[in-house]
Amino acid sequence: MPADFELPLPLEPFKTKVVERIPNPSREDREKALQRAHFNLFNLKSDEVRIDLLTDSGTGAMSDRQWAAMMVGDETYAGSRNYTRFESTVRSITGFPQIVPTHQGRAAENLLFSTFCRAGSIVPNNMHFDTTSAHVRHQGAKPVDLAIPEAYDPVSPAPFKGNVDIAALEALLGREGPANVPLVMVTITNNTGGGQPVSLANLREVSGVTHAYHVPLYLDMCRWAENAYLVREREPGQAGRSILEIGRDFFDLADGATMSAKKDGLVNIGGFVATREDAVAERLREALILYEGFPTYGGLARRDLEAISVGLMEATEPDYLEHRIGQVRYLAGILAASNVPYFHPVGGHGVYLDVHRFLPHLGDGDLPGQALVVELYREGGVRSVEVGSLMFGDNPDHRSRSLELVRLAIPRRVYSASHLAFVAQVVSRVYARRESIRGVRMVRRPERLPHFTAWFEPK
Ligand code: F0G
Repeated sequence: MPADFELPLPLEPFKTKVVERIPNPSREDREKALQRAHFNLFNLKSDEVRIDLLTDSGTGAMSDRQWAAMMVGDETYAGSRNYTRFESTVRSITGFPQIVPTHQGRAAENLLFSTFCRAGSIVPNNMHFDTTSAHVRHQGAKPVDLAIPEAYDPVSPAPFKGNVDIAALEALLGREGPANVPLVMVTITNNTGGGQPVSLANLREVSGVTHAYHVPLYLDMCRWAENAYLVREREPGQAGRSILEIGRDFFDLADGATMSAKKDGLVNIGGFVATREDAVAERLREALILYEGFPTYGGLARRDLEAISVGLMEATEPDYLEHRIGQVRYLAGILAASNVPYFHPVGGHGVYLDVHRFLPHLGDGDLPGQALVVELYREGGVRSVEVGSLMFGDNPDHRSRSLELVRLAIPRRVYSASHLAFVAQVVSRVYARRESIRGVRMVRRPERLPHFTAWFEPK
């Protein structure tokens, strides 16, 4: 077994207080559901799904402390005390003085890119997530992925495959300068490329380059605590430091950040933009009032801000993170025993199946990732998501197209080890009959973000 597995059972550092019944659609139900959904799993109803690994975003379970926090919601339009606590929590974690709440991550992206970009701007990132890339392009700007070459190699054991290619960044900034590059983004962890971490050493170099060119550096900090956990484990000199200390080192190197609190904020809705640039904050707030709401609630109920304040801190707790990353490794460990190919090493929030090795007989035109997503659902009611030619097919500049992955994203504090063992069985059964799997074709193609709403049919 390769070295990146640890198979000890990830012991839950919590016990169950409320339960939700899991549906168990029959094979016949699943076939009907696939037809009805036009083979796009985004069109399934939750009652048609047995284990839902579509996303780790907004799908986690809140703690009793978070639910209790919701009860002290102060639903004042302006100046809510929940905002005051939220602001001080985000400031204490990030050190950024200006905190602008939003209803989720893409709203933060909208504010940030509409503030910074104009038509023709270039925005580098290690790898853009789908909504990030779409928001950059929505401004008439061009997203450019600059991850290191290993990020595109699913079998390389490199520990920080989220890292930015520094030479490529320098070349781009040298060529275009601050006139055409209004900001540089780095996504921690790199969701599009397997949930891989970015090292502190790499971000230090990025920060050196961006600041030499007087270009602001912003983090996409959705999964910052998971990134810090992997840095502590893998980066020389970081063992023994706390998640908050490591995180602060990252934030100190940047000028600001966007956050979807639906990930490492442990809530079902929420986000923010944080910045140390006062003039930028002013413009963000103007756009905020237009799109989201007054600056002390940003499109959220005030009680949601209170739940985020608690969740952000819970996501840094050692036993929480050990279990979280332990679950990802547990699932990967069982898959490895059946030789199922996946992206190495496993990262922070899920296992990404390597479709090119899983279904080598299918070509790009067969949309093999989507074909695999359909088969995992057909086999056991497991919902996953394609991260590949379909998700990024509407962006001709996307280097990430060379990766064809199917992500099994693990919601936070939701499923147990036995659920994950069930998922592994389903994936292994599909792997065993892989040669019989055919491709799919797109029969309805929306212009933007096609994976959400396209229709397919089997070839
Ligand atoms: N940035 C990254 C890296 C993300 O993973 C996401 C969302 C966003 C921004 C946007 O945040 O959903 O709150 O608007 N990722 C989810 C996923 C949807 O499934 O990975 P949002």
